[in-house]
Parts: sequence; C-alpha cells; structure tokens
Amino acid sequence: MTFCEFMELALYWPDGGYYTTHSASSDYYTAPSAHPAFGALICLQMYQLWLLLECPRPFWVIEPGAGAGQLARDVTRFAQQLSPEFSKSLRCLCLERHPWGRRAGSTELGHLPNWIAAQGLPFQRVVGVVLSNELLDAFPVHRVRMEEGRLREMFVHLQDSELVERPGPLSTVALEERLRRVGVVLDEGWEAEINLAVDDWATQVSDCLERGFILTIDYGRDAAELYSSERRRGTLTTFRHHVQTDSPLREVGLQDMTAQVDFTALELAGRDAGLESWGRTSQRRFLLNMGLQGWLASLRSAINGAAYNGNRMGMQQLIRPGGMGDFQVMFHAKGVEPDSLWGLSVSSEIGPLLAGLAPPRLTAEHSQLLGASYPHLAQSYEHLWSGGDTT
Ligand SMILES: C[S@@+](CC[C@H](N)C(=O)[O-])C[C@H]1O[C@@H](n2cnc3c(N)ncnc32)[C@H](O)[C@@H]1O
Repeated sequence: MTFCEFMELALYWPDGGYYTTHSASSDYYTAPSAHPAFGALICLQMYQLWLLLECPRPFWVIEPGAGAGQLARDVTRFAQQLSPEFSKSLRCLCLERHPWGRRAGSTELGHLPNWIAAQGLPFQRVVGVVLSNELLDAFPVHRVRMEEGRLREMFVHLQDSELVERPGPLSTVALEERLRRVGVVLDEGWEAEINLAVDDWATQVSDCLERGFILTIDYGRDAAELYSSERRRGTLTTFRHHVQTDSPLREVGLQDMTAQVDFTALELAGRDAGLESWGRTSQRRFLLNMGLQGWLASLRSAINGAAYNGNRMGMQQLIRPGGMGDFQVMFHAKGVEPDSLWGLSVSSEIGPLLAGLAPPRLTAEHSQLLGASYPHLAQSYEHLWSGGDTT
C-alpha cells in the first residue's frame, strides 16, 4: 500500500487507528488546551469577521477536526463576555472524524449554548467562518523520493514480520503535478511529503460557505522552505507520550503522526476553489496583534502565586518562538469586500474592546503545563502562612 493509505489506517482505522482510540492529550497538547486566551482572542477575531459580514444571525463558526471541542468552548464562553448580540448570533458547529467530539457534544458540552456536535460538512451553504486548528497536518500524506532523476513514491510492505518502506512508481501523476505547481524540484536523494487532500478540502469548505472566511491555523511553511535541503528527509514525524519518536512504521495506531503543511499549495488550492487569500502571519504575531501582551501584563495584578505562574506559562506557550509561536495563521475569504484584519496588523480598535475584559484563566479543562513540567512551581504555598499572627 502507499504510505498515504498506511497513514490513513494508522490514524483513522475504526478498530484501532490512533485518533479513533486515543485522546490527544496523552501524546501532545495543542493551543486550545494550553490556555483559554487562545480561544478568547480567536473569538475576538471572529467578532470582527461577524462585523465585516454585517452581523449575520446566525453566524456560523464551523470547526472541522475540533478534537475534544476546547476551542469552540472557549470561543463560546468569551463571546458571552464580549458582546451579547454577537454571542446570540454565534453558532459553533464542531465536526470531528473520531468519536471524541460526538461524545463531548452529548455530555460535558451540553450546558453551553450554540453547540452541535456533528461529522461531515453541512450540505446547505452558511454565512460564517470555517475555523481549523491543527487539522491539515493530520491529513494522510504521500511520501516521495527523488531517485536517479525520477520521482518515486514510498510504499509500505511487510517483510519478515516488520513493516518497511520501499520506493515504487507513482500511484498518481498528481504528485508530480503538485511539485511542479508549487515550483519545486527535489534534489537527488531528497524525500518529501505531499498532502493532496488539501485540494479537496478547499473545495468542500468553499462549497459550504455562501459568504464568509476560512481561518486555518497549523504548522508549516511556504513550498520553497518546506522542500529545501534543511528538510531533505521530509517533515513527517510521530509523537508518543509527548516525545517525538520519528518512527511511523512502529507502534502503529499508538502514536500521533503528522507532517508540516505546504501553505503555498493551500493558497493555490483555495484560489482554485474560488477563495481569496487575505494573508497569513505567525501565531505569535497574530496573538500579539489581538492583544495577548496586554493580558500577560494584567495577569500580575490580577492573580499571584501558582495561579499566576500557570497562566503565564500557558499564555507564553502560545507565542513561543520555535514552538506554537511559529505556527501559521492563514485567512481566506469568499464573497466579502477586502478589508484589513485585526489579527494581521496592529489595530487601534482592539484596546478599547479588551479594556475592562479580564483575560480568561486556566480551568480544569485545560492542560496543566506548569504542573507537568515544574511541579514545585505549580504548588501553592500561601497556606503555610494561614493561621499565623500577621499583624
Ligand atoms: C491534531 S488533532 C487537533 C484537534 C483540535 N483541533 C485541537 O486543536 O486540539 C486533529 C483532529 O482532526 C480530526 N480530523 C482529521 N481529519 C478530519 C476530517 N476530515 N474531518 C473532521 N475531523 C478530522 C482528527 O480526528 C483529530 O481529532
């Protein structure tokens, strides 16, 4: 089978695929679970998109690959603080291929408004936003290698009870066409991943939007940077128990598998599907433009001790250079007059909107990153002073 078919089974096989049987938090954490400020500032960006669309009601925020639904929960909660009108218009719809989302919809999310757990894109066109975080990197990819001037595809075989990868003829000419389209020629011996599924994804997303935006957050790069000597072995990687294992053919179904997104291909796919690209920035820049710095500063006066340390660390993870801060935030639009977006440039409109709104704080739903990394800092020691004479 092609590597792509193998990855599809390893991640999504109903009887043992990784996403079918595992909760993500046991092997990796994502921005929504790192700190609720992520969802809150995305909510603020959604609010601007709602204004640009002239305040439609309902305003759909459809999130494919919602995982356990943390992002939608935090967006919905912050909307209630931000604007009652906006909150009443907001309809969050989580789409999830693996059962987590469906379970969550009927249980712990039941108390929140504007929530439907579902699978598959809606058939009827909606006005709103298609939002995804770390979805495209979880699409199965083809792996290729340049050998004697010819592009070959990697296949997975069983040999002496072990899985091995071997090159063979391309299963589809679309692989060569994709590299040509993004302007890349691999050097001899280089390996790379090609995510053909983004083409179909862009078409599906465009088809389900009457008017609106697509906000895609993921790790990846331009094609020229992705397919370069620095990444001559490709970017496919595996994670188990928060450790990068880089061994896709071992522990099949027990580890997460992912490859960086080619944002040049995504932009072209969007264009082919009738979407306009409105620009892209890093997650760090996006969150700072949306006001994260002010929230970091105000934390100190609002809380202290272990709570302060935990919240500060969670927020900083979101913008850490070399980590989530380097993720890309890309905007596409359909049927909307061009305008400038708050997340893509510094805007004087953000300050007044956030004034008086306290930053959301970590809850038990979020990852406790501080406790996991530095247990002594996550302890509260205030109780050692209780009961004593403080006069
Ligand atoms: C890396 S996880 C990210 C989860 C969540 N967005 C977050 O930030 O924590 C990727 C998720 O996308 C889901 N997924 C992959 N392909 C999908 C598709 N075509 N439709 C819906 N969900 C999909 C997987 O089941 C998995 O839960």
